[in-house]
Amino acid sequence: MAASVVPVDPFDLVVVGATGDLARRKLIPALYHRLRDGQMPDSARIVGVAREDMDADGFRRMAGTALDEFAGSDAMDAALKHRFLSTIDYVPMDVSDASGWTRLGEALSDDEARLRAFYLSVAPRFFGMIAEGVHGAGLSRPNSRIVVEKPLGHDLASARALNGCFAGHFDEHQIYRIDHYLGKETVQNLMALRFANAFFEPLWNARYIDHVQITVAESVGVEGRGPYYDGVGAMRDMVQNHLLQLLCLIAMEPPARFEPDAVRDEKLKVLRALAPVTNAEDVVRGQYASSPGIASYAQDAAAATSHTESFVALKTEVANWRWSGVPFYLRTGKRLRARVSEVAIVFKAAPHAIFPSASGRSTQNVLAIRLQPDEGITMGMTIKEPGPGGMRLAPAVLDMTFAKTLGTADMRMPDAYERLVMDVIRGDQTLFMRGDEVEAAWEWVDPITRAWEERGDRPALYDPGSSGPDDALMLMHRDGRRWREISA
Ligand code: NDP
Ligand code: BG6
Repeated sequence: MAASVVPVDPFDLVVVGATGDLARRKLIPALYHRLRDGQMPDSARIVGVAREDMDADGFRRMAGTALDEFAGSDAMDAALKHRFLSTIDYVPMDVSDASGWTRLGEALSDDEARLRAFYLSVAPRFFGMIAEGVHGAGLSRPNSRIVVEKPLGHDLASARALNGCFAGHFDEHQIYRIDHYLGKETVQNLMALRFANAFFEPLWNARYIDHVQITVAESVGVEGRGPYYDGVGAMRDMVQNHLLQLLCLIAMEPPARFEPDAVRDEKLKVLRALAPVTNAEDVVRGQYASSPGIASYAQDAAAATSHTESFVALKTEVANWRWSGVPFYLRTGKRLRARVSEVAIVFKAAPHAIFPSASGRSTQNVLAIRLQPDEGITMGMTIKEPGPGGMRLAPAVLDMTFAKTLGTADMRMPDAYERLVMDVIRGDQTLFMRGDEVEAAWEWVDPITRAWEERGDRPALYDPGSSGPDDALMLMHRDGRRWREISA
């Protein structure tokens, strides 16, 4: 099944922080792939901005190396790479220096109709300064866009301040707040699954669903991002954005249309209905210890006495009519057993057992939506064990791994950033967070992090390659439930 590609209009994309980790690993390869697939026109221009003093050729060499390293060797083609690099320019500047913005303006097209986007791939402390710089130098036009990365702020107050600063210079329809999870194929499939298939909806509520589990497990540690991560932790880095966005897509009411504000209004209602986590036992923090050959979090982050969590598990509820009494268990962490992200909808058991107990146990149906790796959907069922021997029940899994089902095993799945950057150019905000959504998420997170600080909680240590601290297992055991295995 080949994906159809609709080319976008010519654009100038300014990547502020173009020499950084995100730009090199994700943005530059994403743009290359869009050119390769015929979506990015040759006349589009990418203008890198950072302090490093080099000319455009120097930056093109850096971008070329980033492609070799991160774009996938199968995708590299010398002529195409040359074509892509020829779209790139570079302006060395410090964003705190007002004169830099005028120089940047000179590097941009003066065609008023041409679309301009400013991608802020820098630390959040620069966001306000950049919004002011762009505005002050008259670089923003009615059709300009500004793209900002998560996490947006550190808490509700700082998120409000940032939103206020953006609002001072841009209209909400010009602001694209990225949560790259929303650009993942399977995350978008969550919406297709729920809202393009009629048979789920009657079952999608507290009457039939026992609980929901959302897991985003990573096998890597904090890698080279220790200084950033240690000031943030798993709650702010992952739960406040990626996991809550997944929860929203599972729990939201069907929007009337697949349009930005219709979708975001429904997600906002979910965030506002989230029950506060007031019971200390309902949230577990962990930090990975060392094991032979593997450094501990404290070593990775070069922060010997750090209280920052690299793991969080928690229980919450969406306090509304549809979900009353259905716990949502969320779990994320680094250095866990495997890299796996999935949402599991665990249904209630059949109301009455008609088979004799000797025939085996009927299991609860589990609809598991696997985001990565091996994107797809499985349905855990109870069936009759095949063959003679009477009525014996056995668990079975209906497997709809997308690569198998859609015959896309050899097809490259586009990275989330490819979709999202093209959506920015197209002007489609459906997969981006609105300012009020971000604030509502912080409003729910803040009391949890504040309670940790007030109690002086230390995260429990867990072994690398495990499923996290034992307390996380207890979180579900207490309710007579268990987490699904973290396995690749
Ligand atoms: P890095 O620290 O790797 O890169 C920061 C970039 O900003 C560099 O290009 C740096 O270049 C530039 N920079 C720093 N100070 C200035 C300045 N005063 N003027 C101009 N340029 C400056 O950060 P990341 O790429 O990791 O992250 C960027 C943003 O993306 C952050 O907001 C982060 O939270 C977010 N993010 C990152 C992810 C990732 O995987 N890396 C994932 C999700 C979000 P120089 O020093 O030469 O100026
Ligand atoms: C980022 C976090 O937003 O998401 C990282 O800052 C994390 O800490 C990453 O590793 C996970 O993204 P993915 O797409 O690899 O699941």
